[in-house]
Amino acid sequence: MSRKILVVGNRETGLGGAVTAAAESAGHTVVNLSRSESSHVQLDLESSDGEIRDRVREALDALGGAQSLVLTSGMGAYTHPRASMDKAKRLMQVNFFGPVAVFNACLGALIKEQGNAMFVTSSVYRAPGAPDLPLYAASKGAVHSFVTSEARRMIRKNVSLFTFTPGWFDSPMVEDIPPDRRERITQSIPARKFGDAAELAAFALQLLLQSNWITTGRSFEATGGA
Ligand SMILES: NC(=O)c1ccc[n+]([C@@H]2O[C@H](COP(=O)([O-])OP(=O)(O)OC[C@H]3O[C@@H](n4cnc5c(N)ncnc54)[C@H](OP(=O)(O)O)[C@@H]3O)[C@@H](O)[C@H]2O)c1
Repeated sequence: MSRKILVVGNRETGLGGAVTAAAESAGHTVVNLSRSESSHVQLDLESSDGEIRDRVREALDALGGAQSLVLTSGMGAYTHPRASMDKAKRLMQVNFFGPVAVFNACLGALIKEQGNAMFVTSSVYRAPGAPDLPLYAASKGAVHSFVTSEARRMIRKNVSLFTFTPGWFDSPMVEDIPPDRRERITQSIPARKFGDAAELAAFALQLLLQSNWITTGRSFEATGGA
């Protein structure tokens, strides 16, 4: 059955674009929220809570409610832990507080439809960690902890939540990694290759369609054995 899906992420690029393409080709209706003009509704996750709430309402009106919320947006900037705290706070806003504000604004619609929400995190937040990306890893760890806890509360309202945890994959976020660093990362991945956004999106969509009260709070990993 066709589902109404709100995707927080670029409509054309990266994992957001790949999930959108996979969902639309399977007959689902998608509304995207991102800064890009190609998205249905423009949203900057660094906006105030009120602004985020208004943009989400606009998107929900365009979609006519929502059965699923997919949060793929994220900032991947290398941020040294002793570098500017302003940059660190931006990272936390885009990767954690912004997505939580979107979830809060969407919650009424999800409760009405007894729907689900998928938060994209990253495998680098957990052991053995990512020495080059401690603040990014911390922001993704915060999402993971939020989902684990919130899932236990929201299941009483028949809303389920889960995290989708990819390893490294090709997208605009990793385009600027210098070749020597990319080679080091590749050698650390058991499969010895970066993932493909379309392949990950197909798996993520399958999870989205199947996740319900039985799987709520789970983290689904897609890391090529890492
Ligand atoms: N690529 C990897 O190796 C990898 C590995 C593990 C996890 N992840 C995670 O996977 C998710 C998708 O990333 P991706 O690799 O597909 O990278 P991407 O193509 O760079 O996607 C990042 C998305 O975040 C949005 N975004 C960034 N800052 C924003 C802001 N301030 N307000 C609103 N939207 C903002 C961008 O959309 P607009 O520019 O249109 O706003 C874009 O759609 C992210 O959460 C990332 O952390 C990526």
